[in-house]
Amino acid sequence: MNALDIGRIRAAFPDRRILYYASLDSTMRAAVGMETGGVVLAEEQTAGQGRLGRTWHSEAGAGIYCSMALRPAPALTLALGLAAQSAIFQAAGLMCDIRWPNDLLLGGKKVAGILVQASDAKAIGGIGINVNQAAFPPELAGAATSLRLELAKKAGREACPTEIVLALLAAVDRFVQLDKDAILRLFAQSSSYASGRRVTVELPDGAIEGTTAGLDPNGFLVVRKDDGTDTLVLAGGVRAAGS
Ligand code: BTN
Repeated sequence: MNALDIGRIRAAFPDRRILYYASLDSTMRAAVGMETGGVVLAEEQTAGQGRLGRTWHSEAGAGIYCSMALRPAPALTLALGLAAQSAIFQAAGLMCDIRWPNDLLLGGKKVAGILVQASDAKAIGGIGINVNQAAFPPELAGAATSLRLELAKKAGREACPTEIVLALLAAVDRFVQLDKDAILRLFAQSSSYASGRRVTVELPDGAIEGTTAGLDPNGFLVVRKDDGTDTLVLAGGVRAAGS
């Protein structure tokens, strides 16, 4: 994959501080302490962080690794998922599903992930997009995909990482300005997981199975078990039942 055209990205957002690294442990760490609006991009991460304490596979030159310093806001994590979905559609022509709260899926496999961390009075939003991986390590191969692999199935155009970043920064700006109700409404329209989806959820006390029944007013996922009782899911761990 061509390296990001950082000159073009900086020129498109002249008022933002945009740090760019060939290699970095994690863009999450580097974004701590930046002013709101600050962005960190890297071609490779040596210690990419995923949700729930996992690591994020961050092969050199194959993905987008981006963190931004943002103002904390309700439903921010959902807004970032919507922004990434919109950017991928705009730049690559592929419409991702969103698995609550913010895993982006193509063909049921994860193509992008989002991590939000609190830092002082700011939120650090991290977005990882698999762009040009031709294959994944065996432990990820069943669950991960890339834009390149998905576009190849459609004999489609290649995804340009610079175009994706340009679309992503603009989309984040748009979605974080929306109020919470608008974000919840858009999420319900954009995610097949928001309602009527049979899921298994890993909870601290064990797994439950049920059918998703919408989001509560704070953006948490309601899962209705077969006995009719509802469980509010506060963190991730949701997967399609039987997968
Ligand atoms: C997930 O587990 O789904 C979240 C993955 C978030 C990965 C991105 S890549 C850019 C930023 N830097 C990191 O170390 N993690 C996030």
